[in-house]
Amino acid sequence: MRLGNLPNHVGIIMDGNGRWATARGLERPHGHREGAAAVRRTVRAAREKGVRALTLYAFSEQNWARPGGEVEALMALLQEFLVGEREEILGNGIRLRAIGNTKRLPLVVRTLLGGLIAASEHNEGMTLTLALSYGGQEEIAEACRTLAARVATKEIDVGDISVAALRNEMPSLAVGDPDLIVRTGGERRISNFLLFGLAYAELHFTDVLWPDFGEPDLDEAIAAFQRCERRFGGLGEGAASSQRASSPSAT
Ligand code: IPE
Ligand code: IPE
Ligand code: MG
Repeated sequence: MRLGNLPNHVGIIMDGNGRWATARGLERPHGHREGAAAVRRTVRAAREKGVRALTLYAFSEQNWARPGGEVEALMALLQEFLVGEREEILGNGIRLRAIGNTKRLPLVVRTLLGGLIAASEHNEGMTLTLALSYGGQEEIAEACRTLAARVATKEIDVGDISVAALRNEMPSLAVGDPDLIVRTGGERRISNFLLFGLAYAELHFTDVLWPDFGEPDLDEAIAAFQRCERRFGGLGEGAASSQRASSPSAT
């Protein structure tokens, strides 16, 4: 892996826990437990590589529709993770954040989460954002409501509603737009992750199931990112230099 040109903000759709368990004849929560171990490995690897921001899609707003027992198992694991990773987070300068409708989380999880977010808020290492009860469409709707309310109170004009104004209201983008989105588990879809911010993100899909994900897989995703030429709608470096070379004034 090259050292330069790291993605600043990496988002991961951690998918495939259930299939990992089912393939072994285990109940789905076993897959989630192994998935939590993969989270630990990946946070460490990303931090050691120098990624500045890592956003992990841990639970979508739509995941509440799963059977009660599975949701409970996921919430119990989240609680365990917040207790078990406290040292790792605080000891390594990680700043923890959460995005999503966290009011829906059980009180014990909210309390642990709030405590760790507060304890780590001045840390200057990697920012780790957990997307919990998160939906990209919901986040856009919420940003629209916020701006509309400001129009209603005449704090801003309708004309002030811009891409930048919307972006400012999206907690997922406080660490910058995602540069690289990874999805494990073989599906090639976004499933309501960082919809607004991923406009120009590189998308990396891998068949590896999340519980099997580790540093080599993160390296592969970053290497794929580094091979991409990002143009943001322009012509990119290559085009600009070949144009210079062929234009008479440049020769
Ligand atoms: C991802 O794994 C974890 C969550 C969505 C909470 P899944 O539970 O979706 O696993 P599969 O996709 O069914 O294998
Ligand atoms: C996306 O996975 C959500 C998370 C990884 C938290 P899902 O398993 O919920 O997505 P779908 O249902 O396959 O689109
Ligand atoms: Mg899934």
